[in-house]
Amino acid sequence: MIDKGIAVVEAKDIIDLNNLVLEPIENYQLFSQDYSEIQKKQSICFNNLEKGLPIVFAHSLANQVNFQNAIQTPIQRWFPYREGYSIKLVNTFIDKYKVTGNVFDPFSGSGTTLLSARTNNLNSFGIDVNPISTLISKASNCRYSDKDKIDIKKGIQKIRKTSKSNEQYETQFNLAEKVFNNAILQALLQFKHEIFTIRNKKVKDLFFSSWLSIIEKVSNVKKEGNGIKYKNRKRTKSGYITIDKEIWENDTFPENRFEFVKSQLLSSLEVIYADIKDNYGFVEKEPKIFRGSCLDFDEYFNDEIHFTFYSPPYCNCFDYFEIHKVELWLGDFVNSKEDLRSLRNTGFRSNTNSVKDKIIEYTNENLESLISYFNLDRLWSKKIPSVVRGYFDDTNTLLIKLYDQTKKGGLVGIVVGNSAYTGVIIPTDMLIAEMARNIGFTVEKIYITRHLTTSSQQKKELEPLKSYLRESVVLLKK
Ligand SMILES: C[S@@+](CC[C@H](N)C(=O)[O-])C[C@H]1O[C@@H](n2cnc3c(N)ncnc32)[C@H](O)[C@@H]1O
Repeated sequence: MIDKGIAVVEAKDIIDLNNLVLEPIENYQLFSQDYSEIQKKQSICFNNLEKGLPIVFAHSLANQVNFQNAIQTPIQRWFPYREGYSIKLVNTFIDKYKVTGNVFDPFSGSGTTLLSARTNNLNSFGIDVNPISTLISKASNCRYSDKDKIDIKKGIQKIRKTSKSNEQYETQFNLAEKVFNNAILQALLQFKHEIFTIRNKKVKDLFFSSWLSIIEKVSNVKKEGNGIKYKNRKRTKSGYITIDKEIWENDTFPENRFEFVKSQLLSSLEVIYADIKDNYGFVEKEPKIFRGSCLDFDEYFNDEIHFTFYSPPYCNCFDYFEIHKVELWLGDFVNSKEDLRSLRNTGFRSNTNSVKDKIIEYTNENLESLISYFNLDRLWSKKIPSVVRGYFDDTNTLLIKLYDQTKKGGLVGIVVGNSAYTGVIIPTDMLIAEMARNIGFTVEKIYITRHLTTSSQQKKELEPLKSYLRESVVLLKK
């Protein structure tokens, strides 16, 4: 069904940032509370880092830093990219800081920053290591001619008329039999095969991203927390139970599995077509999108940047390749474990799968103190100190390159969440601010958008410092 009640993607969709409350310095009560030794030590680091930082509350942005609203927004709703933020967030900054020049997103994901830039009629550049991200952000931001629109319509009609083939389709994905009902898997592979025969490349890529967007819905797994969970594993009062796969599939999916997959694909395509017809916005300035690591972005373009806006992976061990694993395999982006491993190695050092033998050049006294407070026996992986150091090393490399390519007076906005390990908070927002100052940026503002929660094990020990567990927008100026 097409939701006609949704808003049109427009650049005027913004939030008033002029009415913000100044953040009080939280650690004034440092020694009046009953802090443990580790908490006191952390507080000293936080006080050091906090000095002179223009920190403000911006709770009006709380709903914009995640994907919650995006799922109803034209174009963004084509693909449920849960790690994305809302277009309204980017529009707000573009409007408040009167951005007129080139826009850049070094972690472009589903392409939200680029969508905002193009609907504001600004030139933009994006880069991402995940081939799924670049496929969908290109499909969401390219220029569709009248001829393309006719081809899309014809393509939809063709899918509607497709009937079940008797051919057996193959996949390299070794978990496919567990992750899918067999008839659903065959239907998905048949439609992929059909889509790959589309001659108009733009339309083919558009249909392919639509096909990717339905995989989770028709599969036996869902993205949850840091990974993929089986839907037939349920939590009950007495613990987890696993419902027999066949029983669960029979209860969950309609009898005609082929028609079920077809209807999911068609409704996704109908929404896409409706948006392209009515809600697509300008494409005067088609974004340039590259697949690669942001640490090498200067090898892809050397235009001067006015405004960079991004959300990097957080320093919390979330693995973007793990979460998109099913789509990567089924969409033939990876065909072997080795492919997946090498893709992971190109990712930002934010999780244990991305840490390679890379020299760490960046050092920071406060960061080292915080790492030294980790309880090594309780860390779930011995690699975590390297992940944290690698994370800030990569951030430093990126910020140095951004500084070089940003025009004087230009801005860098970073949406980032702080994290915690064994009761020790890594205040990424303030650590980035400190790093950026050393590079030459000034810190315009740190906008605190919302507070975060943590695992129940850490909750109690983080209680007195919990205000530092937050998601912020760090705004830097050259
Ligand atoms: C938080 S998401 C960005 C979401 C995006 N802002 C949106 O609204 O869709 C972070 C992105 O960083 C990408 N990524 C991870 N390592 C990277 C690297 N070294 N270079 C570029 N992108 C990377 C991931 O693939 C993921 O798409």
